[in-house]
Amino acid sequence: MQITRFERGLHERVAIVTGAAVGNGRAFCERLAEEGAKLVIADVEMASDTEQAVRAAGGEVVTIQADMTNPHDVARVVETAISTFGRIDILVHNVGYYFEEPFELVSYEEWTRTLDVTLDSLFHTVRAVLPHMKKAEFGRIITFSSDTVWLGTPYLVHYVTAKMGVIGFTRSLAAEVGKYGITINSISVGLTATQSAGTNAGVSSMLEHIIPTQAVHRADEPEDIANVVAFLALPASGIITGQTINVDGGVARH
Ligand SMILES: NC(=O)c1ccc[n+]([C@@H]2O[C@H](COP(=O)([O-])OP(=O)(O)OC[C@H]3O[C@@H](n4cnc5c(N)ncnc54)[C@H](O)[C@@H]3O)[C@@H](O)[C@H]2O)c1
Repeated sequence: MQITRFERGLHERVAIVTGAAVGNGRAFCERLAEEGAKLVIADVEMASDTEQAVRAAGGEVVTIQADMTNPHDVARVVETAISTFGRIDILVHNVGYYFEEPFELVSYEEWTRTLDVTLDSLFHTVRAVLPHMKKAEFGRIITFSSDTVWLGTPYLVHYVTAKMGVIGFTRSLAAEVGKYGITINSISVGLTATQSAGTNAGVSSMLEHIIPTQAVHRADEPEDIANVVAFLALPASGIITGQTINVDGGVARH
């Protein structure tokens, strides 16, 4: 496929989106499909609602139930992408694991689980897609951090530590893979009004508390994050790499 610097949209591009059964990941799939991308959805849960939403929007999609902390499952996802669509242009690595707990109550199992889901899955998935992107001399990798890393939010030592690791990974790998036409950027997400947030009293009251601290006084919606994902996935964004873009209505201004 001929790549031009100013190519518009994502027609014929193939994107793997991990952690897309619910929440932000579903919005990313819908947005990338609108831009013309073909989608491979990987989630440990059944992602049939996301698949249906993409198909309803006219998108081509394959869904795989996979634990992205397991290298064998990751290999299955990448093999399916190649056997179905023949290429991998975009990786949106969205899987996440979140809970609040004072540091002294976090068990070692919870600590390692957080690092596994956040960082080990990133290691396995990026390692598996890189050979395909290098061969094509094109790739867009998007990782997810959190605005809690800038805010140093309490009761999240496990989570903030892991999400800061994502930023380190993103910065350092960018310097290695830029010469192959591959970019990697992170989005530090603020508290987002996902569908689950709307039905979760705890998150709803957190949103009420956080919105007045934002520079823009409205809830951060999955579609707000999806717009940034779509931008970073574009061939035309190829000069931007190693960056972390904060999308939280301006709570953290770093
Ligand atoms: N929603 C927010 O307010 C918020 C704030 C800051 C950062 N983030 C980050 O944004 C990303 C998405 O957030 P979200 O709210 O959509 O999360 P979510 O918890 O609603 O969805 C995460 C998805 O990942 C899947 N998943 C979890 N472990 C997996 C594994 N091992 N293998 C495969 N799939 C797995 C889950 O099944 C789920 O579908 C995460 O990385 C999260 O840490 C979200």
